Amino acid sequence: MDRAIHQEFFTLNNGNKIPGVAIIGTGTKWFKKVESEETFSKELVEQIKYALTLPGIVHIDAAEIYRTYPEIGAAIEESRRKPRNQIWITDKYSTSLKITENPKVGLETSLKKMGVEYVDLYLLHSPFVTEEKNGFSLEQAWKYLEELYKNGKAKNIGVSNFGVKDLERILKVAEIKPQVNQIEYSAFLQNQTPGIYKFAREHDILLEAYSPLGPLTIEHSEDDEFYRYIKELSHKYDKTEAQILLRWVADRHVLPVTTSGKKERIEEAQYLYSFDLTYDESNNITQLGLQHKPLRKYWTEQYSKYDADSQKSDD
Ligand SMILES: NC(=O)c1ccc[n+]([C@@H]2O[C@H](COP(=O)([O-])OP(=O)(O)OC[C@H]3O[C@@H](n4cnc5c(N)ncnc54)[C@H](OP(=O)(O)O)[C@@H]3O)[C@@H](O)[C@H]2O)c1
Repeated sequence: MDRAIHQEFFTLNNGNKIPGVAIIGTGTKWFKKVESEETFSKELVEQIKYALTLPGIVHIDAAEIYRTYPEIGAAIEESRRKPRNQIWITDKYSTSLKITENPKVGLETSLKKMGVEYVDLYLLHSPFVTEEKNGFSLEQAWKYLEELYKNGKAKNIGVSNFGVKDLERILKVAEIKPQVNQIEYSAFLQNQTPGIYKFAREHDILLEAYSPLGPLTIEHSEDDEFYRYIKELSHKYDKTEAQILLRWVADRHVLPVTTSGKKERIEEAQYLYSFDLTYDESNNITQLGLQHKPLRKYWTEQYSKYDADSQKSDD
């Protein structure tokens, strides 16, 4: 049964359109250290298969480091009803931990494992690239991605967890500008690194938010003004608190990347654009979030030093 869906897209700096929410991230709760028959997750296959029954273009978030290509491949193979152009696959080359020789080999390998001809978006997972560790520099890593863009294996290219200085390095050598920077972003972490929100907006690089539901995943008091307000909006619109937070992310012109082990939550995310928050409501969430102490869940070793700056408004 197909329910009508109102799907929204963000327009990338090359004119391509990306579906406005990634509903099934395959990292975080699905991530594994080893890819083998023993660790193959039937549960993840079921979740992706369910996502692929939903109407509209279904946006999946993958990465070399998650070791979930076999599950994605199996789910796509078993879900023949959804044509390839109704599936958006984001993939990431592992930089911090070297898994394959270079992004060209990395993508060739992942395409084979997922059983697809191309990915819709290919990212460098982090800026932590050195000649010693990786065998190529950050600038050379970007050149590999440009090659993949030109030969059509990656329809769009970008980066993840990049700060302003990292982006400046890329922009200096780029023939093709990054379309996306995927970062940790939530009401409680509005700048993963200093000034990144403003810089990305000014340079027309779309920000994607991973861990957008961070505020819901930590212990909190129901009396806290932020949570009381989210609950109030949830009642007003008859939407879940998660939907309110994801919708707020999108109102900030940031594409939410979420996931769930529960089918109803995956479906709710796909229907994210079936309601609107008012300008004032969105703004209230921004302001209440900024008053909260920072919540950083990932890349803490590298970025916790920026916690004090992460809750500064810079519209
Ligand atoms: N580029 C990077 O470095 C990077 C880093 C981290 C993540 N990512 C990507 O982003 C994806 C999403 O990251 P994330 O998992 O941190 O996203 P998230 O959307 O912030 O969190 C998803 C989790 O929130 C839980 N949740 C949903 N509604 C809730 C509620 N009302 N109360 C409490 N918990 C609730 C879900 O649990 P249930 O399963 O029980 O519904 C799910 O496990 C990852 O899978 C990965 O693809 C990328």
